Amino acid sequence: MKPVSVGVIGLGTVGAGTVDVLRRNGEEISRRAGREIKVTRAAVRDLARSRDCNTAGISLTANPHEIVEDPEIDVVIELIGGCDVAFDLISAALDHGKHVVTANKALIATRGNEIFHQASSAGLVVAFEAAVAGGIPVIKVLREGLAGNRVERLVGILNGTCNFILSGMQDDRSDYAEVLLKAQANGYAEADPSVDVQGVDAAHKLTILASIAYGVHLDFKSVHVEGISDITQDDIIYARELGYRIKHLGIARRLPNGLDLRVHPCLVGDDHLLSSVSGVMNAIVVNGDAVGETLLYGAGAGAQPTASAVIADLVDVVRTLTSDPGNRVPHLAFQPAALAAPGIVPLSEIVCAHYLRLTVDDRPGVLADITRILGDYQVSIEAIRQQGSADALGNVPVVIVTHRALEANVAMAVLEIEALSTIARAATRIRLETLEISVDE
Ligand code: HSE
Repeated sequence: MKPVSVGVIGLGTVGAGTVDVLRRNGEEISRRAGREIKVTRAAVRDLARSRDCNTAGISLTANPHEIVEDPEIDVVIELIGGCDVAFDLISAALDHGKHVVTANKALIATRGNEIFHQASSAGLVVAFEAAVAGGIPVIKVLREGLAGNRVERLVGILNGTCNFILSGMQDDRSDYAEVLLKAQANGYAEADPSVDVQGVDAAHKLTILASIAYGVHLDFKSVHVEGISDITQDDIIYARELGYRIKHLGIARRLPNGLDLRVHPCLVGDDHLLSSVSGVMNAIVVNGDAVGETLLYGAGAGAQPTASAVIADLVDVVRTLTSDPGNRVPHLAFQPAALAAPGIVPLSEIVCAHYLRLTVDDRPGVLADITRILGDYQVSIEAIRQQGSADALGNVPVVIVTHRALEANVAMAVLEIEALSTIARAATRIRLETLEISVDE
């Protein structure tokens, strides 16, 4: 049978990894797919640049439209990232009857509804396993392996760069900027690392996972997003002394009145599995009503792990080439007509414990004022510690861990505390998740 002809758009880290793994494991991959799979064309920005893979037998072009329009190409792999150009190319590939594999989480999270509509109408597949958590097959697991479950909660370390930075700050006491440079040098970070450290990349991934887990349309704007750039070495040390690590988490929960979707730094107990996920590794804990708790763990970024996901999609696409389009696994797990609007619970209504770091005047009565305000807002204190002695300005850090309390109440209490004349600067507030299935879930 004629080999399946693949055109790759973008031969950067993931593109080169994909070509490399396809060459190395080609024979075994073909035995799985039932057809030989060959990359025959690739589009690159700079034809003169050397590549991190063997491009023998691959015809290179600087014009990606040649690939999406080439009648000989069966499947297009889009690996250029970004939204506008990538959208146009994928849309053009679908117009030309080609299946698409993409690692583009920003595009799927923000324009996936349009893309899947176009693909389904044309009886084509757009596969996106590599868009979430690099090499971890979490899309496949949620969409197919857990199809019998009602997903209650999904919590994940979804951004390798954030996890690499927080782990580096914790394990080597390195500073933020130094670890970020290392992440970039290793090819983990996005072209613009602010997308990673501000939490946007993780929010793209959470949007996709929530859609598949709960059968709702993709709605990136409904995710509450915070990044890690305000986390200091002090927070990491104090959290550690209290028995926690700081992790950047994506959280999706089904609550009685809707979905809770958020991405932010979080204190996680030392004894929880997620706290031992270090470096660029990702992990996702999924709680289903039938299966209970499951944990998926693996490399969330990097050339070969992401190539592993791209090629798994490619094999799926090749297997479906001869299947009836109406009977394929739906793009977002639920049949398109059965997708609902995500009813989102506002952040202010979420109940969560908090870590608060305050910088206060070291004198009598200060703590009494703080605890009174917290009490006024029904925020109960689990632990309170003054860290060390006063600095040259007479200020001292005080760390408070609260019991679970209404987000709106904690926010108002912190505002009132910050207004006290004895508080030197804005408070640091980090949510603390026990990661137990609790009464309001
Ligand atoms: N920049 C991403 C991360 C790469 O750090 O996880 C994979 O999406």
